[in-house]
Amino acid sequence: MTETDLTRLSADDWDEMTNPRPDTCDFDRVVEAALSRRGFMSGLLAFGSGAAAMAAGLAPVRANAEGARFAFTPIAAQTDHTVHVPEGYDWQVLARWGDPLFTDAPAFDHATGGDAASADRVFGENTDGMESFVVDGRQLLVVNHEYTNRDVNLPHAEEGVPTSLEDVRKLQKLQGVTVMELREGDAGWEIVTDSPFNRRITHLTPMRIAGPAAGHDLLKTEADPTGKASLGTFNNCGSGKTPWGTYLTCEENFNGYFGATGTPELPDAVAAGYARYGIKPEGRGYDYHKWDARFDTAQEPNEPHRAGWVVEIDPADPESTPVKHTGLGRFKHENAEVVLAPDGRVVVYMGDDERGEFLYRFVSDGTYTPGGPTEGLLDEGTLYAAKFHEDGTGEWLALTPESTGMASLAEVLIFAREAGSAVGATTMDRPEWVAANPHAAEAYCCLTNNKNRGVKPNAGGDETPVGGPNPRETNNYGQVVRWRPEGGDHAADGFTWDLYVMAGNPEVHPNNVYGGSENITAGNMFNSPDGMAFDSAGIVWIQTDGDDSNEGEFAGMGNNQMLAGDPVTGEIARFLTGPRGSEVTGLTWSADRRAMFVGIQHPDAPFPDGEGRLPRSSIVVVTRRDGGLVG
Ligand code: FEO
Ligand code: CA
Ligand code: CA
Repeated sequence: MTETDLTRLSADDWDEMTNPRPDTCDFDRVVEAALSRRGFMSGLLAFGSGAAAMAAGLAPVRANAEGARFAFTPIAAQTDHTVHVPEGYDWQVLARWGDPLFTDAPAFDHATGGDAASADRVFGENTDGMESFVVDGRQLLVVNHEYTNRDVNLPHAEEGVPTSLEDVRKLQKLQGVTVMELREGDAGWEIVTDSPFNRRITHLTPMRIAGPAAGHDLLKTEADPTGKASLGTFNNCGSGKTPWGTYLTCEENFNGYFGATGTPELPDAVAAGYARYGIKPEGRGYDYHKWDARFDTAQEPNEPHRAGWVVEIDPADPESTPVKHTGLGRFKHENAEVVLAPDGRVVVYMGDDERGEFLYRFVSDGTYTPGGPTEGLLDEGTLYAAKFHEDGTGEWLALTPESTGMASLAEVLIFAREAGSAVGATTMDRPEWVAANPHAAEAYCCLTNNKNRGVKPNAGGDETPVGGPNPRETNNYGQVVRWRPEGGDHAADGFTWDLYVMAGNPEVHPNNVYGGSENITAGNMFNSPDGMAFDSAGIVWIQTDGDDSNEGEFAGMGNNQMLAGDPVTGEIARFLTGPRGSEVTGLTWSADRRAMFVGIQHPDAPFPDGEGRLPRSSIVVVTRRDGGLVG
């Protein structure tokens, strides 16, 4: 495999390629379980009569009292190089990789992809999770930049492999987070260049480490003997927003940035953590460790322990130091969905996106009151992992030294995956975004896919049996699980669950579980649900990051896309299709809800600037021609 191929390999595939897992599951047993569709469908999927309406494929669905609440005509699957939205809606590009945030940054250079010096003065690469804020009456957008497309970002470097410290610095600065002010001008929404709120946070930005693991020996390095101050936030995937107006950025595949120039002597606990989190001597092609000693685990074995956290950023204060919250646990964080329990405790739902890893919840000790102190609300509390039972019930299992047998709370949090294994949490089909319904006490999680379901254990050796919310062996399509907490209290330890949708291809698989649940038709097929957010009307929006070949198992699904789901009727309708090659990820709205911001990550050329130009990840803004609300 060439380096260029490596840059296009998913993080999970890379982890697996370099760390193959043994086959231990009984094949006959899992096939039998996967094919018991009748029992599954009757027991776990319950939809209103509206589901039948979707059998009409692309028939318009309009808001009405009984049926779906979508105010648009669903669109067909697409395979081209542009964005499509329904009739009556428009889209335009809001921000592209390399767009200047400050006037001292040069306009984008399609020959070089920009230089290292200005890489943190421009909109970063691979846009992902984002949230909207209003500060001093100004519309701010805070956006993650997950990783780099090295072959595109370093056009001069053979196969995108850094050739110098300057190349590494450019990559480090293109990732992280952008805070930017927006305004609606005559030509539509645009970046306010030089706004005092504009800010880039990168792999080099000073961070404070807070919570129970701060200062632990496992977080200390030569540069930071306190274990409380690190540099940079990494692989910023999904996002979150606190009730007190701060942004949460979630560190996902951080392991790929580290490598080793020698063979470090690691304590057993550290070596076990490296194995579970996929930290390997060869690195993943970023080659940071060859130019920047901090990323060389032969020299700084604890540096990887300082990544994999949820980081809080105050967009209202451009001088503020971002805070890494160890109370929320260390894993490959997708997003952080924050809700309040009835008594004011802060509840954070979080997925760990790797095959067979867990779904987590944090519950604060303290309570939030508007305008009151917030220090400690994301650190002092209890982290839990989810256990799903076959009967449609489930429970949150506390991760503590007592429940896990681990030496300290700090180690529970630093090695949260191992803690989840110790309590027997349910291995999941790659938990991506969690979204909570603002109109009902329920939350949803995209389980994007898992080709290893029923085939191989997870990286910790935990079995991945077919069943519960992960009902299909070799699951290439994904599903969305939904849970309702006991008593309508997100801090309660028990819940009931069902599947909101099981993606699939009813054309290719008309008679088995791979055809998907009843709310999937030829007209709304998709695979690999990933991003997810509720709008103010209680519609759940689902974004995909899957196979866009439009062939074989995926025929008829087209490019990655965004769909709207009605939580009550189960109906799902396609709203937007992304350009070929792209993942649709990141969704939020302007304060007046007349603009929807949608992320288009890693499109193929020629999106968005045309033939002969570098492809550029972009945020697009979707509006209604009649000026109406879009969410
Ligand atoms: Fe960054 Fe799991 O998506
Ligand atoms: Ca994702
Ligand atoms: Ca994904």
